[in-house]
Amino acid sequence: MNDDRSGKPSGMRRGLTSYGDARFSLFLRKAFIKGAGLTDDALDRAVIGIADTGSGFNPCHGNMPALVEAVSRGVLLAGGLPVRFPTISLHESFANPTSMYLRNLMSIDTEEMIRAQPMDAVVLIGGCDKTVPAQLMGAASADVPAIQLVTGSMLTGSHRGTRVGACTDCRRYWARHRAGEVDEEEISQVNEQLVPSVGTCSVMGTASTMACVVEALGMGLPGSASAPAVTAQRVRVAERSGAAAVALARSGITPSRILTAGAFENALRVLLAIGGSTNAILHLTAIAGRVGIALDLARLDAMCADTPVLVDLKPSGEHYMEDFDRAGGMPALLRELKPLLDLSTLTVTGATLGEEIDRSGPGFPQEVIRPLARPIYPQGGIAVLRGNLAPRGAIVKQSAATAKLLEHEGRAVVFDGLADLAQRIDDDALDVNADDILVLQNIGPIGAPGMPEAGMLPIPRKLARAGVRDMVRISDGRMSGTASGTIVLHVTPEAAIGGPLAYVRSGDRIRISVTRRELSLLVGDDEIARRAREQPLRVPDAPRGYRKLFVEHVTQADQGVDFDFLRLGPR
Ligand code: FES
Repeated sequence: MNDDRSGKPSGMRRGLTSYGDARFSLFLRKAFIKGAGLTDDALDRAVIGIADTGSGFNPCHGNMPALVEAVSRGVLLAGGLPVRFPTISLHESFANPTSMYLRNLMSIDTEEMIRAQPMDAVVLIGGCDKTVPAQLMGAASADVPAIQLVTGSMLTGSHRGTRVGACTDCRRYWARHRAGEVDEEEISQVNEQLVPSVGTCSVMGTASTMACVVEALGMGLPGSASAPAVTAQRVRVAERSGAAAVALARSGITPSRILTAGAFENALRVLLAIGGSTNAILHLTAIAGRVGIALDLARLDAMCADTPVLVDLKPSGEHYMEDFDRAGGMPALLRELKPLLDLSTLTVTGATLGEEIDRSGPGFPQEVIRPLARPIYPQGGIAVLRGNLAPRGAIVKQSAATAKLLEHEGRAVVFDGLADLAQRIDDDALDVNADDILVLQNIGPIGAPGMPEAGMLPIPRKLARAGVRDMVRISDGRMSGTASGTIVLHVTPEAAIGGPLAYVRSGDRIRISVTRRELSLLVGDDEIARRAREQPLRVPDAPRGYRKLFVEHVTQADQGVDFDFLRLGPR
């Protein structure tokens, strides 16, 4: 239990409980932990916390016991003392109303547990969409040396000879089921095959995107993003992460030294090059906000112009995460992107990103990660739109859209919320045709609340049955990273607080032009102002508790949907 080189208390001496007598506090702490069978020799080592997010409600973290064991082994081999502790765990399909509503709560839990408990470094084990952002947000705020370890992707399954995986194929088969092409028996067979193992979704959805982004930021070990959850390689990555955490504790490199403006630029480059999830923009903005860095949508859009999509994974391409791993994973991608990256940024290994890329050696011929000269898509996957419908921006994942719909003008068919959508979307009497633009209001950060992934509105059943597979859809909500279509998301400011989206009416005309980065409501300013005067706001009821905290303090999409009081002022 020696103090560190700076003279600050380390190991079990850190952050003593307040009893008014520091020596008694340490005496009591040692007495209790010895009750768990630990010796003075163990208690004299660097303490490495292991954030365990295993939960029976989170199959994406189903390999957590094996990972905790392997991290612990790595810590012990490197001379540290591993101490596991639980935090909130979030799974996409087991969080009501939506996991995004709870991300900030998990980040607070993570931050405060890192800060409250005596650890010289922490290994954060997460995987499912919101868990890694929440852990990085918490770690950034606590600013204790931290390494992110992801649980790894699930395997793919097979349905009648076709390879399938969650959750791009979940949506594809469900759309065909709605259209009457896949019957009840077949859809239940598909259901058995989509998730063949524990681990995170097997396409370039939000979880896989964040796993890649972790490496680009420098917060995870090189090559740690892509090994599937059930492989020996994933367990070895965990052991190495444990050992690296001991070295990190000794070096004292904290997240604030790693999470620099250059690191976030690298992360955005990677996000664009992998055709990654639109959700990652919100998460990166929130993480950056915790260290006082403002991520600028205009900068993201400018980077889009000279960052091609290189990774051929669903939903933008064809392959799955296991293929990305076999093709060399993030080291192979970073090698290709090297001319576009800031190579001076620091990583958890203590080396720079440039040094780690050089260490990763040469690549080999493969087709999943393309060279810069032969991209999948010439521009980055995500474009930022602005106009009188989205004064503070909206985004569209152009790499997963229908090309001809990216330049489109059409008649609005408006739904004023999720209940209205559920009630009318499949009504045969709905006045809608394939060239119309579907608009969903009031699913923003405050409106729903929690900004659910409902932005990929279903194609109205009567059009789906007629063979329509895509339409322009616009909302202030999010969509799953595994989804595809011509979907305009994150319209800011949102409808519930009086953003212009609130005043769109069925029959209005809307123009989208990705070439011009435009999203316009073709209605005069006077008419929009008149509607705004007459129409009350739809802020939801939030009488008490976490819901009240959320509605009163959540920020808009351009600030990462974090709580205002958790963000740090500019660095
Ligand atoms: Fe957990 Fe997709 S539901 S990663």
